Order: sequence, then C-alpha cells, then structure tokens
Amino acid sequence: MSDSDDTQLEARLAEQESFEPPASFVEQANVSDPEIYEEFEENWPDCWERAADLLQWESDYDEVLVDDDEPFYEWFTGGELNASANCLDRHLDDRGDETAIHWEGELGESREYTYEDLHREVNETAAALRDLGVEEDDVVTMYMPMIPELPIAMLACARIGAPHSVVFAGFSADALATRMESADSEYLVTCDGYYRRGDPLNHLEKTNEGLADVAHDTTTVVVDRLGDALDHELAEDQLDYDDLVADHEGASVEAVTRDAEDMLFLMYTSGTTGKPKGVKHTTGGYLSYAAWTSHAVLDVKPEDTYWCSADIGWITGHSYIVYGPLALGTTTVMYEGTPDYPDKDRMWDIVDSYDVNQLYTAPTAIRAFMKWGSDYPDRHDLSSLRLLGTVGEPINPKAWKWYYKHIGGESCPIVDTWWQTETGGMMITTLPGVGTMKPGAAGPPLPGIDAQVVDEAGEEVAPGEAGYVTVNKPWPGMLRTLYKNDERFVSEYWEAYSDPDSDEWVYFPEDGAKIDEDDYITILGRVDDVINVSGHRLGTMEIESAVVGVEGVAEAAAVGGDHEMKGEAVYTYVILEDGYEEGEEMKQSIVEGVEDAIGPIARPEEVLFTPELPKTRSGKIMRRLLEDIANGEDLGNTSTLRNPEVVDDIQEKL
Ligand code: WTA
Repeated sequence: MSDSDDTQLEARLAEQESFEPPASFVEQANVSDPEIYEEFEENWPDCWERAADLLQWESDYDEVLVDDDEPFYEWFTGGELNASANCLDRHLDDRGDETAIHWEGELGESREYTYEDLHREVNETAAALRDLGVEEDDVVTMYMPMIPELPIAMLACARIGAPHSVVFAGFSADALATRMESADSEYLVTCDGYYRRGDPLNHLEKTNEGLADVAHDTTTVVVDRLGDALDHELAEDQLDYDDLVADHEGASVEAVTRDAEDMLFLMYTSGTTGKPKGVKHTTGGYLSYAAWTSHAVLDVKPEDTYWCSADIGWITGHSYIVYGPLALGTTTVMYEGTPDYPDKDRMWDIVDSYDVNQLYTAPTAIRAFMKWGSDYPDRHDLSSLRLLGTVGEPINPKAWKWYYKHIGGESCPIVDTWWQTETGGMMITTLPGVGTMKPGAAGPPLPGIDAQVVDEAGEEVAPGEAGYVTVNKPWPGMLRTLYKNDERFVSEYWEAYSDPDSDEWVYFPEDGAKIDEDDYITILGRVDDVINVSGHRLGTMEIESAVVGVEGVAEAAAVGGDHEMKGEAVYTYVILEDGYEEGEEMKQSIVEGVEDAIGPIARPEEVLFTPELPKTRSGKIMRRLLEDIANGEDLGNTSTLRNPEVVDDIQEKL
C-alpha cells in the first residue's frame, strides 16, 4: 500500500463511527441470530437454560431461578455438578490428546498440557491437598503468578469442593495476610519466585512476611518455579509442591458432587471502605455464565486457540483463562511475563507462533502498543486472529481503531466487554456475530441482562445524558453475597436503587454511563471511591490508610487523576505532622508505604504536600475537587468550602 493510500485509510477510519461484523465472521459465529435478544426476553428466566446446557450436570436442577429471599437469589437449584469434572473429565474421550493449556514462560520456555495431562496433574494435586487435610468447603488461598500450577491448584480445589481464594501475586504481604484472615483460610499454595523482565523475583520472602501476620495456623505448599535461579529454603513446616505431587503419582480423586449453589471461589476486590470485599461465586451459576459468555461473546470453539492476556489473579483470568475456556474444551494460552520482554513484539510473537484465534486484552495494553507503534505487530503474521476483545476500563475510539486496524487487519470484530468481579462474567457488549460495533461504547446489554442508565432518582435518562448503570434483573453469574457479610452485600449493591417495599430489587455496580438511542452504553467510570489503574481496581480508602500508616503523616487523601497510559493514576495529597519535613525523602517513604501495604500497582504517581485538605462545611474531604486539581481542570466556585484558600495553595504546588 502506498503512503497516500494509507493516509486515506487512516482518515476514513478516524471518521467512521460504526462498524459491521465481517460477513466471514458472522457465517461461522456461535451466535448470529439477532432474534436472541427477544428470545431471551420472552423466556426469561428460562432462557438461562441455554447457559446451563453448556455444562454437564450430575443431576438436573429443579428450578432455574429461586427468588423468594431477594436479593439472595439462587440459580439452578437442586442441580449437582463439579467444576473440575466439567473443565476436564468430560473432554477426555473426545479431546484428551488436545492441548488444554499452552503455557509460555517469560524467558521463552513453554509447557503444553493436553486435557489428559491436566486431568492427571489436577488429580494428583487434589489427592495431595486432601492428604494435607483440606476438606470440602475449606478455603484454600493461592498466591501465585502466571504459572500452570495456579490453574491446576484451582481445579484441584474445585475437584474436592474446597473454594479457592486467589490473591494477585503483585499484591503485598499485607494484602495476603488480610485476605487469609478474612477468609479463615488455613491453606496456602504459593511459589518461590518468578521472572519479571528477565530477572528472578523472590516471592517466598513476601509470602513469609504475610504469613507472619496471619494469626491462625497455616499449611503452605511451595511451587519451585525458579529452580537454581533463586536460592530459597523452605521453613520446616512448608511443603514442596513437586514432592507432594510425586508422592501422589497416578492418584485418582473422584470429583465431589457439589450443589449448584455451593461456593466455587472467593475473590477479594476493592470497594468504598478500606476493607476488601470477599465476593462469593457459586458452582452452577458462575460456571454456566462463564461458559455461556465465552461461547456467545468470545466465540470460543473447542478447536480454537484462545488467549486472554489478563492475570489469573483477577476475575478476568478466572472466568476467561480458566473456567470459561476449559469448560468449553478449547485451548487456552497462558503467558507468564510482560508484553515488552525481550522486545515490544512479544504479544504478536505469541499470536503468530500459536496461531491464536481470539485475543482478549485490556485498553491499557492497547494504549501501550499504540505508543510503541505498528512496526511491532507488522513483523508478525496475525492472520489467525478471528476476534478481538477488551475489558477493564473504557477504550477510547482512537485506541479501538488502532486495535481494529493494526491487530485485527480490519477483519475481526472487537467486543468491548463491560463487567465486574461481582458480575462473574460479561454484561454489556455487542454480540460479535450480531451487532454493529461503535468504538467507545461497550454496546447494548447482553441478551437476558436488564441493564439501563438512570438518574439519581432511578429514572432512565434520555439518550446522551450521563447517569448510572443499574441492573434490574438477576443473572446466573452474579455474586451471591460478600463472604460472611450479607449486610454489606445488601448495602453496597442493592440499597441505592431498590425498593424492598414493592419488591423491586436493583443491582448498582457503581459505574457512571451514557446511553444512546440504540441502547448502546458508554461507560464513564466509577462513581464510588475506587480508582481504576490500568484496569485494576484500587480503593482510595485502602491507599489513604497506607499513606497515613507512614510515620509523620497526619492525614491523606487519594484520588484518581487522568493518565495517558494507565487510564487513571493515583494522586495523593498529604498533610504532615509537625516536625516532619516535606521533601523527596518523605515522598519516597510514602510511595514505599503504599507499595508495602497494597503492591506496586497502587504506587502514587504524585505525592503533594499540603497544609490542609479542602473540606466541605460539614468536614468531608472534597475528593472531586482534588480530582479536578489533579487533572488541571477548571474548578468553578469553591466558595462553599470551609477552607477555600487551600485550593490555590495546592494548585500552585502542582
Ligand atoms: C471497569 C474487571 C469500561 C468498570 C472485569 C467496572 C470497564 C470495573 C469495562 C470492574 C469496560 C470493566 N469499559 N469500564 N469494557 N470493563 N470496567 O471488578 O468501572 O476488576 O466497574 O472487573 O472496571 O473491575 P473489576
């Protein structure tokens, strides 16, 4: 193509507001009939049998939905199944020799697990865990990076009916301890370390620091990821994963029968208060929803090679690296490292060498690829790709179009999928074989999902106006409660818009949004005290308490400021105690304090010292104002503040 053709093409793309799914995609799509929206609406809630039908049930459910005790809904009640049997055993006859997991390590080594291999190792691990004393319903914590032993341990737990609670490996020792304590988890599977940009990183040290803060006794299993690259010694009571598995070679563990509503896992996530919330997901509803959305939205077929580049430590990895794809019997790719190691074409090298058919990634990654330039993808053959997806934060039209052109070669539909840890799976997105795509808008709610955009009073807003996302009907993948905290479950998600007197229950995800005349929803971002850094949820309260924990800090406020690559970045405003000095050293201790308490992802971009925080007359910190200051926006009238003079002061410092 000549340069002028290319420029013309860019110009056309830049103006184009909507895109149709390519005919070649529609022809082969798992879902291509537009009637599906009506069909789901008319048959609600029985429409969800279509999701349940993707699973193998040991005994049939009696009812699709039980709603006697709202908002504590139950799905597929009376049904029995096992998640690990659904992800493994039932594929053995037809697909035992096919690859279940393609794992690639950061240094370039790879491991391939066929369904038979994975089944074998999951059985051995399940036998080992059981011998260690893990019983049905015991919560097993996992603190591991992207190594195959993580999904293996998850499936082993599912096999014996022990819910897992995976803690993102990048989280701090503190975060591990808090989550183990909150879940009363007595078992931990972790590893010695892993590679980051080529260097071995000690993970066991951090694990041990965390364990030191857990009050109850714990049993720890350690995977040896680094071998000789890292000297490490296990404490006397810590067990080596390889030894354990070897001791159970060839073991077979019957998959325990779980009720549909039995807990499959817990996942902690950030919310309005400083304490992370333990989101509870169940076996029947969650698994059918993960499988259904993988089928309908990601168009996953058993013969595909599918890659979601998220980390299994987040919900995206749970639903769309492990449970959804494996339930459908496909090949799922797992990559250990960063996208720019050894070079900035690492992702495209993986797509090229494994012939990846679907790629599901995050806008923050796409913005980085865009910045690095199209030469990197151009070096590789990406023609195996059939579908692209994004998740985690809004994607701006420019990044969408770059992804569409340079990665998808203008022949792959893009699904911009809005959902949350709490929803278990995708909620708002186009169906790739059905809907027109509009860059920037996630799309309409999926079939069977009754989502809308409302104002403060709960009335639907007119097209183009800003409001809040709400969901009016339950869905199978929804969280059932917050672990051991039904009250907080009700107050966080249901109180804002429900009217219990008239039995109207409305789920509030705490996101702002707009809707257009075609029902396409554009997500505007969180409206609670949560910051979305590179698609990762961080609570401002968690960050503030970390900052205040630093010696010399009297008070702090954390807000999200716009950031070109990360979407949002953490800005902290800090008041020091008398006798402490503002300056680089203090900044450094604050940054370290946050990294120690939460992890490097929460690292403040800016630390601003101020003698006071802007407060309302009733004494509340004006976070919105601090956000506007961070973003260099016009502040309007600040005279209603108790202390308007501090605003100028802070602005001057920025
Ligand atoms: C945001 C990740 C815009 C949103 C699956 C939500 C998005 C929060 C999108 C949940 C999207 C997720 N467009 N915003 N496609 N997807 N979000 O729990 O603010 O880690 O509430 O789940 O991410 O983050 P979580």
